[in-house]
Amino acid sequence: MNKPAYQLVIPAVYRQTHYVTNGHLKRIALFASGSGSNAEKIATHFAESTSVEVSLVLTNNLKAGVIDRARQGFSSGLHVPVLLFDRPAFYDTDRITRLLQQQRIDLIVLAGFMWLVPTSLVRAFPNQIINIHPALLPKFGGKGMYGHYVHEAVVAAGETESGITIHYVNEQYDEGQIIFQASCPVLPTDTPNDVAHRIQALEHRHYPRIIANLLAAY
Ligand code: GRF
Repeated sequence: MNKPAYQLVIPAVYRQTHYVTNGHLKRIALFASGSGSNAEKIATHFAESTSVEVSLVLTNNLKAGVIDRARQGFSSGLHVPVLLFDRPAFYDTDRITRLLQQQRIDLIVLAGFMWLVPTSLVRAFPNQIINIHPALLPKFGGKGMYGHYVHEAVVAAGETESGITIHYVNEQYDEGQIIFQASCPVLPTDTPNDVAHRIQALEHRHYPRIIANLLAAY
C-alpha cells in the first residue's frame, strides 16, 4: 500500500469557531518544523480573537515541538489540527496547496519552517505567505542560514547589531519583500546563544502583532 501523502497527527476536533456576523473570519495556516515557540505565541495571541483564527498547523517533522504544543492546546485550550506531510507530498503533488485552498486559508505563516516553498504554492497564495528570519536581511540570509548558524555568523562577523526580519515569501530563500524589521544590539562579549535569546524575545514580541496588522488590511 502507498504511504499517505499526508496525515493528521492531531485530528480536527469540534472547534468552537467564533461566530462573526459582520465580516469574514480570517484563517491562518502555520507551518512549523521546530520547537514551535513562535507558533505558540501566535496561536495564543489569536486565541480569543473574534476575527482571526489559527485554523491549521502543518509540519514535515514528526519530532517537532510544535506537535506537543498543539497537543497541549497551545496553553490556551485551542484545538488546532496538525497535519504532517512529507517531501513528495509537498514538492511532487499539489495536495497541500489544494488543502489550503479548500480550507479557505487567508494567510500562511512560516514559523521555523526550513523547506523552500514550491513555486506552485507561492503562486497560489500571492502575498499571502510570510516568514520570519532571525537576522537583518539581506544580511545573513539564504540557504543554510537558519537557527544557530545565523547567530554564529553574526558574532563571527563582529556585527554590533542584529535583529529580525518579517518578509513575504517568494521562490528564493529569504528574498521576498520585507514587511518589518526590528533590531537589537550585539555586544562584544555576546555568544551566539546570547544573541539567540535577544532575537527570540523580538520575534515573540513582534510576529503576532505584525500578522494582526496584515490581516486587518485584508
Ligand atoms: C526562529 O528563530 C525563526 O526566526 C526561524 O526559525 C526559528 C523558529 O523558532 N525562522 P521556534 O520553532 O518558533 O521556536
